[in-house]
Amino acid sequence: MTTDTKQDHVLIFDTTLRDGEQSPGATMTHEEKLEIAAALDEMGVDIIEAGFPIASEGDFNAVSEIAKNSVNSVICGLSRANFKDIDRNWEAVKHARQPRIHTFIGTSPLHRAIPNLTMDEMADKIHETVTHARNLCDNVQWSPMDATRTEHDYLCRVVEIAIKAGATTINIPDTVGYTAPRESADLIRMLLERVPGADEIVFATHCHNDLGMATANSLAAVEAGARQIECTINGLGERAGNTALEEVVMALKVRNDIMPYRTGIDTTKIMKLSRRVATVSGFPVQYNKAIVGKNAFLHESGIHQDGVLKNVETFEIMKPADIGLNEDNIVLGKHSGRAALRSKLEGLGIELGQNQLNDLFVRFKDLADRKKEVYEDDLWTLVRDAEDAT
Ligand code: KIV
Ligand code: ZN
Repeated sequence: MTTDTKQDHVLIFDTTLRDGEQSPGATMTHEEKLEIAAALDEMGVDIIEAGFPIASEGDFNAVSEIAKNSVNSVICGLSRANFKDIDRNWEAVKHARQPRIHTFIGTSPLHRAIPNLTMDEMADKIHETVTHARNLCDNVQWSPMDATRTEHDYLCRVVEIAIKAGATTINIPDTVGYTAPRESADLIRMLLERVPGADEIVFATHCHNDLGMATANSLAAVEAGARQIECTINGLGERAGNTALEEVVMALKVRNDIMPYRTGIDTTKIMKLSRRVATVSGFPVQYNKAIVGKNAFLHESGIHQDGVLKNVETFEIMKPADIGLNEDNIVLGKHSGRAALRSKLEGLGIELGQNQLNDLFVRFKDLADRKKEVYEDDLWTLVRDAEDAT
């Protein structure tokens, strides 16, 4: 596949089971990993990064099993830049209909200092390891870890070496969530312009959310020519997490007028998978999280509820059903107005005349002042109390 910036398809690479699971405490069982992988495959994720096979026997087994059960998705495993890691990775992913080997090394000055390699020694290592991976598998992804803090000349040099050695995808990680949208776009544009052979491969963007810019940085990279976004469900990941799959996918869907790119994701499966990942990882989703938070589609203030009841587009830019959420989006509380109360009552099959509604509204406000949220059961009680009083 070539990275034609005119091409409008953006590949979704999900790393919930690798980078996501690296969050301290987010460990999933073998069965849970298989279940999540099957759901990602069914949802239309193009590439699933299923784990880090050399990390443990458990990770190896999970990646192998996910590979064996894969249907449409490419199955990828991660490996460091050495033959032992890459061989172990291949042993696990080779069972997939479409396997991919992902290998990486830290290229920024800070990361080069850890193995204490000179620039030339690291360049040789990249050449050897990518060549080795490509001899095993015809689908190879290479990542210069901490790319956004790597000197541009050196980044261009090592990306060119990886492409010449056979990498088919070059991933540009913002490992510590340091970049900003304009810089993220400029980096991809610079690589596409300066690196020979760059138009023959796919550029990926892999962002972390330390400054809360992972989604914006990923979308900016796409506008500059990246055609693979690496992300996780609910933005699960170390520290402040990774780019959230649901955010980039829905942003591309809702604002397709200004970002004319498509993904193959069945968005109606988002909510169910988000809840499942929250449960199995033990990482609850914050209430006001974009797209999948409990409150993302709820309206409590009277003005908003009235507007939504008259024309849903007044306060909603996407339909809850688009992400598979078919629940009522009106929450009754102290800010709610008569229109919302009437609508809820009608939903329960309760039709009231204007005077009865006015009377009930007084009782409702009194209760809402004492209680955060007024539920359906509370409404039934209020209606019965009002009837008893007459
Ligand atoms: O954030 C990162 O740099 C990574 C690499 C291993 C791709 O997750
Ligand atoms: Zn990462």
